[in-house]
Amino acid sequence: MANNAFGIDLGTSKICIYNHEKKRVFVERNMIAIENKKNVIAYGDSAYEMFEKAPDNIVVSMPLNNGVISDINNMQDLLRLFISEITKGNYKNSDYVMSIPHDVTDVERRAFGELIEDSSMKAHSVSVVEKSIACAIGLNIDVKSSQGVMIVDVGYNTTEISILSFGGIVKSKLVKIGGNKFDDIIKATVRKEYNLHIGSKSAEALKMQIADLKRSGEKGVVYGRNVASGLPVECMVDPIVLENCLRESFLQITDNVKELLESTPPEIGANIYKQGIYITGGGSLVSNLCQNVANGTGLKVNTSDSAENSVIFGLAEIIRNNKKYKNLTFEV
Ligand SMILES: Nc1ncnc2c1ncn2[C@@H]1O[C@H](COP(=O)(O)OP(=O)(O)OP(=O)(O)O)[C@@H](O)[C@H]1O
Ligand SMILES: [Mg+2]
Repeated sequence: MANNAFGIDLGTSKICIYNHEKKRVFVERNMIAIENKKNVIAYGDSAYEMFEKAPDNIVVSMPLNNGVISDINNMQDLLRLFISEITKGNYKNSDYVMSIPHDVTDVERRAFGELIEDSSMKAHSVSVVEKSIACAIGLNIDVKSSQGVMIVDVGYNTTEISILSFGGIVKSKLVKIGGNKFDDIIKATVRKEYNLHIGSKSAEALKMQIADLKRSGEKGVVYGRNVASGLPVECMVDPIVLENCLRESFLQITDNVKELLESTPPEIGANIYKQGIYITGGGSLVSNLCQNVANGTGLKVNTSDSAENSVIFGLAEIIRNNKKYKNLTFEV
């Protein structure tokens, strides 16, 4: 690409931006804090700091829901503020490549392009690529080959299961389970088992510690409000209780994977059998999920060290080798 270029993966919980000029990926929470309904007072990680703590006149919100844009004005502001910060305001005439979910309506799809086109960003070009294709490229899979692959992207609100072959999506399924659902289940379980009301951040922190706690034989320390006394207390939570409460959700993901496999053409199924399933997305990092999918399907499961960043790594590769991937991106 002749101009400066940006890859953008708008996730429900995180916004990832690759800047080709700086050859760097920037990641921040996809959140914005608005005071008195009009002034943006924080965005990204600083807005997340205020989440569940801000006074009533400050609304901290996420402009994406289930992977689609639910608040276009705030999303536009957030994106412009991030890119302006990264480039110190020097971003005019740039090329943008964005990843978009497969399972969206035409209106939702158009909204991704309009984010940049209708803003004051004065883009040179805006193109989009299917999120699961970018994800596969980020996992170093040769997406243009005739080998069928299955990608399971466990995100924040949703899990996108896709079967790819010859650079296209053969089948896909969106399941309404992701990392946020795991946090909600942990919150409900801690309340039921320990009489403790905890916030989403504490639930997420507990979720991320399950594997380490099991390994060390320790319990997780969490702070919250005792349901009976109403007072703040410290509590020790057993990681086995946490892991058990997530089993049902893992089973639902596995069942959906199996359902999609059952309707997959046999030649592609044979490829998947040989290579295994690729599981990625931040939500896939939770303790025991990959193991559950492997046990439930009897297939090998390939995991990734960069599970949270596969999509943005794929977008970076598409920008670096844009000629090679030209027929996988579409201008909007
Ligand atoms: N080490 C970890 N262990 C468990 N869960 C994790 C870990 N790291 C991140 N997560 C979870 O991953 C989820 C976010 O995943 P991801 O970053 O893939 O979502 P996203 O791209 O923002 O959203 P989406 O693609 O669904 O729109 C969060 O719920 C977060 O708690
Ligand atoms: Mg994502």
